[in-house]
Parts: sequence; structure tokens; C-alpha cells
Amino acid sequence: MHLSIIVPTYNEAPNVAELVRRVTETLRTPAMQGVDAEIIFVDDSTDATPDAIVAVAASASLPVRLIHRDKRTGGLGGAVMEGFEAAHADACLVMDGDLQHPPEKIPELYARFQRGDVDLVVASRYAGDGTSKGLADGTRVLVSKASTALTKAMFPIRLKDVSDPMTGFFLVDRRAVEPGTLQPRGFKILLEILARKSMRVAEVPFDFADRHAGESKASVRQGLHFLTQLTALRFGKMSLFAVIGGLGAIANVVIVWALTHVGVNYVVAAVVASEVTIIGNFLLIERFVFQDMRGQASGVWSRFAKSFTFNNAELLVRIPVVALLVSTGHITAVLATAITLAVAFVLRFVFHSLVVYA
Ligand code: GDD
Ligand code: MN
Repeated sequence: MHLSIIVPTYNEAPNVAELVRRVTETLRTPAMQGVDAEIIFVDDSTDATPDAIVAVAASASLPVRLIHRDKRTGGLGGAVMEGFEAAHADACLVMDGDLQHPPEKIPELYARFQRGDVDLVVASRYAGDGTSKGLADGTRVLVSKASTALTKAMFPIRLKDVSDPMTGFFLVDRRAVEPGTLQPRGFKILLEILARKSMRVAEVPFDFADRHAGESKASVRQGLHFLTQLTALRFGKMSLFAVIGGLGAIANVVIVWALTHVGVNYVVAAVVASEVTIIGNFLLIERFVFQDMRGQASGVWSRFAKSFTFNNAELLVRIPVVALLVSTGHITAVLATAITLAVAFVLRFVFHSLVVYA
């Protein structure tokens, strides 16, 4: 098997036969000669979709498989993950079951994938001459564009080469996906894949068509799922980073206390404590926060040098800034310290995500 086509379905009875027909026709074109393919429907329907799939499978010229789930675990995203597991090929193409994703694009996606230099080919509404005219109304166009912009702003590096991280139409090498790290919730499975692991990505523009039949399952609830997903994906790292920073601050105080207790000079104790916690923090951050980004970043010593330099510069700069704030801003030393610590924390996080682990 060369290609597994995974189609999540939720009440798409009037669409499956037409989808299989158009996929079959596309696979008969010269470009797809010799490509062994299967279609896997991962279905959560409450209507007659499973019957429609079984009926079309009986007369299809390629294997058409049905995985019917009783629990809708993870929704659309969970269904796609189950498709990855069940697929007979490593090349897994994911597309919707309502023909908004034109099957005629499959050869182009497959050809791009076959060049072998990428793990993922994204069919994009926002690249080249792609369009999103199948989005039902102006509100959805706006929501789609705004959420895409927001998402790209939150993942400037990971989504650098991806114009449409929310598309449901893509071809991925399932070996490049780490299923254990994914927490699919609802519609945005591609975003989950892209945000969790760095991938080599190519894009192919496509026209997002009108639905063949039936209605979209997108909803306000899906929108909320998306926002929590985005928060978890982005601030999951940041909150971990904060916890490690907090532990470092506590360790710092304990070391100063212990050293001065045995008679070490206060300044020496403070320097030792700072350097020990800076190194400790780096090791923890390497291991727990940016472990998935180490592969694409510079070598460990170069990462350490950047992190070490930044933290020491921060240490040197922060004290005069506190003094400046107190003398010119008429605020208390405690408040000035709190403000500079907060700003330093954000800068440190941004610096580590954009520079150290870039
Ligand atoms: N198995 C399963 N379980 N399938 C589902 C579920 C579910 O809970 N919810 C939706 N689906 C299936 C639908 O039956 C359809 O085949 C596909 O997932 C997409 O659902 P639609 O209801 O057609 O969504 P849409 O057209 O509004 O949004 C799609 O296109 C957007 C733009 O490309 C989705 O693919 C979005 O993720 C995508 O952003
Ligand atoms: Mn749709």
C-alpha cells in the first residue's frame, strides 16, 4: 500500500458515494498509475453513513474500509488519529467527507510528497491561487482569517512556512507524527501536529469548494475548543517555563542562606547562587520545556552559551533598571523589582523560544 486516504465522517450519508467515485476516478489518471491506495472512513455518525459506506465499498475498485466508533473520542481530530493507526501506508492523506476538499488535488499532493524532501504537504486556501470561497458566509471568512493570523502570530517559527495551519486537507508521513504527544480536541488536528513537532512542510494551493450535501459541523463549541487548544499549545510551554523559573528563585534563596550561614561573604554567595540556578534552569528547560525543539536548534553548547549570556545580562541590567525606576518613577523598590522580574520573565521566554531554540 502506498497511500491511505483518511476521511473523518460525521453524518455525511449523502456524500460518501460521490467522494469514493471522484477519488477512484482521480486514482485512474496517468499521474497515479501504479499507486496502491485505500480509503479509510473513520466514522462517528448517528445517521445512515455507515450503511452508505458499506454499500459503496462492495462495488469499489479500491479497498474502502470503515472504522465506526461508538464514542466520539477527540471528535474530528481523534478520528484522524485513529485513521493514522489503522492505515496500511505511512503516507496518510486526510480530507473531509463533504467534497469541500477536491479529490482531483490528490495527485498534486502525492507528487509533491513523493519528492521525499518533506514530511507534510498542506493543501492551503491561503497560498498562491488557493481560495476559501466554500466558507459559508462572511462571518466564517472573517473568523477563519482572524484565527489563522492569531495562530501564526503565536507560533511564528513553527508556522513560518504554513499559510493555512487550520486546513483539514493534507498529506503527512505518519512516522513524522508523534501520536503520544498529541491531544486532539475537535477540528484542528493539523495545528496540533504542526505545533507539537517541527516538520518539513510544503504547500499546494487549493480551492475550498462548496459542500456537496448536508451541513457543516463547525460550531461555537468548536470555536471554543480551538481557543483552549491554542492556549494549551502555546502557554503549556510558558507555564512550565514559569514553574522552573520559580523553582530557580527558591533554590537561589536557599543557596544564599546556606552559604552565608557557613560564613561565605554575601556577594560571593549571591553570585554562586545565581550561576548555579542559571545552569540548573538551563538543564531543566532543555529537558522539559524545549525538548521537542532541540533537534532543529544549534548545538547544546551554543544553546547553553546563549541562555547563559542572556541570563547574566538580565541579572546585570535589572538592578540598575530597578534603581532608575525607583529614583525617577517614584515607585517603591518592591514594586520596581516585581515589574522588572515580570518583564524579564517574558523577555526570557521570548528569547529562549525565538533565539536559543530557534
Ligand atoms: N469522525 C468524525 N467525528 N468526523 C467529524 C466530526 C466528528 O466528531 N466532526 C466533523 N467531522 C467530519 C465531517 O463529517 C467532515 O467530513 C469533516 O469532518 C469536516 O467537517 P465539516 O463540518 O465539513 O467542517 P467545515 O467544512 O466547517 O470545516 C472544515 O474545513 C475547514 C477549512 O479547511 C474542517 O476540515 C476544518 O478543520 C477546516 O478548518
Ligand atoms: Mn466541510
